[in-house]
Amino acid sequence: MPVLSVENITKHFGAVEALKGVTFSVERGEVVALVGDNGAGKSTLVKIISGVYQPSGGAFYLNDTPCIFPNPAAAMAAGIETVYQHLALIEQLDVADNIYLGRELWRGGALGKLFGWMDRATMRRETAQALSGLHIKIPAPTLPVRMMSGGQRQAVAIGRALLWGRELLILDEPTAALGVEETEQVLEMIEKLRAERGISFLVISHNMQDVYRIADKIVVLRQGRHVKTLNKSETSPQDIVAYITGAKE
Ligand SMILES: Nc1ncnc2c1ncn2[C@@H]1O[C@H](COP(=O)(O)OP(=O)(O)O)[C@@H](O)[C@H]1O
Ligand SMILES: [Mg+2]
Repeated sequence: MPVLSVENITKHFGAVEALKGVTFSVERGEVVALVGDNGAGKSTLVKIISGVYQPSGGAFYLNDTPCIFPNPAAAMAAGIETVYQHLALIEQLDVADNIYLGRELWRGGALGKLFGWMDRATMRRETAQALSGLHIKIPAPTLPVRMMSGGQRQAVAIGRALLWGRELLILDEPTAALGVEETEQVLEMIEKLRAERGISFLVISHNMQDVYRIADKIVVLRQGRHVKTLNKSETSPQDIVAYITGAKE
């Protein structure tokens, strides 16, 4: 049973047909790359799966259960976490507060929430534990995010997604803003998480070397059309580019 199964999804914005029938699946523990030129429909597809948009037609299933997400909170509640290209971390908050953003723990139940008694000790302890398995050294959970490097921030964002995403992690251009060394760290992190914990990923990337390295399967979109799903074992970075540009059908 696939973790995610997308069946003939379409989406139009007025007269613009952003998605013209996309079908693919993500098996448990699989890394699936979603590739295509600008305007191919990648972000639209990801936003549908993460509850930002609703499809115009078609359906998708999480562990065989049909999903209708009216909003992002519904997708998150179902175990789907999305790390967007522009990191949604709050600069002045520390690592633990960022990890628990919108899911804060309160001391003293409802009364504590009313008075804003955040349970920082538990949040920091759980954060340290969650991040310790991530293969990227993150400074103390009490460090404000603005004091961290790009790679460390990306690790925090992925760490947050990991802590809450039980079923599927969606990464939109996870290395686009990173230098060579930090990109390497994030790729290694994805590889290890898949190997050690069987986490399922849907990754958007423009970098064919990265895609070829981490993905088991590559879903190619062109102008809203689902052109091809390629298995890594039967393709090459050059081949993927040919499908993206339309040199191959
Ligand atoms: N909110 C929107 N309103 C109108 N058109 C949109 C909207 N979002 C995306 N589009 C259009 O849908 C198409 C696919 O866009 P997008 O999913 O952002 O592509 P990609 O992420 O692959 O670059 C483009 O033609 C884009 O202009
Ligand atoms: Mg996009």
